[in-house]
Amino acid sequence: MPYEPGLALVERDEDGVDTAFRADVLDGLAQAHKAIPARWLYDDVGSQLFEDITQLPEYYPTRSETEILKARANAIAEAVGRGRAVVEFGSGSSVKTPLLLEAIDPAAYVPLDIAGDFLRASAKELGKKFPGLPVHPVEADFMRRVELPKAIEAMPKLGFFPGSTIGNMVARTAVDLLRSMRETLGVGAQLLIGMDLIKDSNVLEAAYDDAAGITAEFNRNLVRRVNRQLKGDIPLEALRHEARWNDEHARIEMHLVAERPVAFSVAGKSFALAEGESIHTENSHKFSRRTSYMLLLAGGWEPQARWLDSEERFSLLLAEAKAPRNAP
Ligand code: AVJ
Repeated sequence: MPYEPGLALVERDEDGVDTAFRADVLDGLAQAHKAIPARWLYDDVGSQLFEDITQLPEYYPTRSETEILKARANAIAEAVGRGRAVVEFGSGSSVKTPLLLEAIDPAAYVPLDIAGDFLRASAKELGKKFPGLPVHPVEADFMRRVELPKAIEAMPKLGFFPGSTIGNMVARTAVDLLRSMRETLGVGAQLLIGMDLIKDSNVLEAAYDDAAGITAEFNRNLVRRVNRQLKGDIPLEALRHEARWNDEHARIEMHLVAERPVAFSVAGKSFALAEGESIHTENSHKFSRRTSYMLLLAGGWEPQARWLDSEERFSLLLAEAKAPRNAP
């Protein structure tokens, strides 16, 4: 997963510790409700575990979104038109990106990612599959406005942000991101974005707490990483993975719950968890048609089309950055 900063953009102290990771963990553990930002789940082991998650019977989002891209290829192509420059926010998936590019016959492909090595490797792989397509990887943090390559300046743009990754953000962060995407792509651009749907909480909880225990490992790997990289002694055996549906916020939360009172230290600082207290490690927001439209509109994107998979579990939305106009 394209969250983990590549070597080039990571700042380290004298001991080789990633300073942003340490600051996030120490800040997060000092809060009344302990929390660590979900982006730190994706080190090499975590990224591989997420790949394994996408293959699980309970984890439907990847399969559902892939089904939409296949089944609706013609409708998507018609709504998007030919000759656009596809700007993908993230390095791209080996399955979804080729499906989109095959469907719409774009003029160029521009993957944006903060992890430079990973970005260049996946751009190269993609270039092999589409020999005639100009590919321009850009190493950048797409949470801010990105300077796009001169070569695609004059082309109409299509942003691509699959996977319901937007769901990992709380509303104000998601809106900030949508607005910077609009700044990056400009007026007239389109955005094709995946958003997972609100559904039966049993289905959701199973998708984030699979029988094989892979999601639990994915969650617990964060603690291993803290212990290893930040000289922590968090007792992993005392922490239980929990996937919790928060109905008020319409999101699945991943927590690591203390099964007994624990005291530990990380990077020389002391912390404690009471029995039943947790470290919150991820939010995965789910959307209805209305909340997905509201989020897009708040970010400056007008919904144009919406496609669902056959089981109506996942949505793929197309939106347009219209010029601002006076409205009542
Ligand atoms: C890749 C962030 C979209 O929220 O569904 C999967 C990550 N976490 N299982 C998601 C994830 C637990 C996934 N995203």
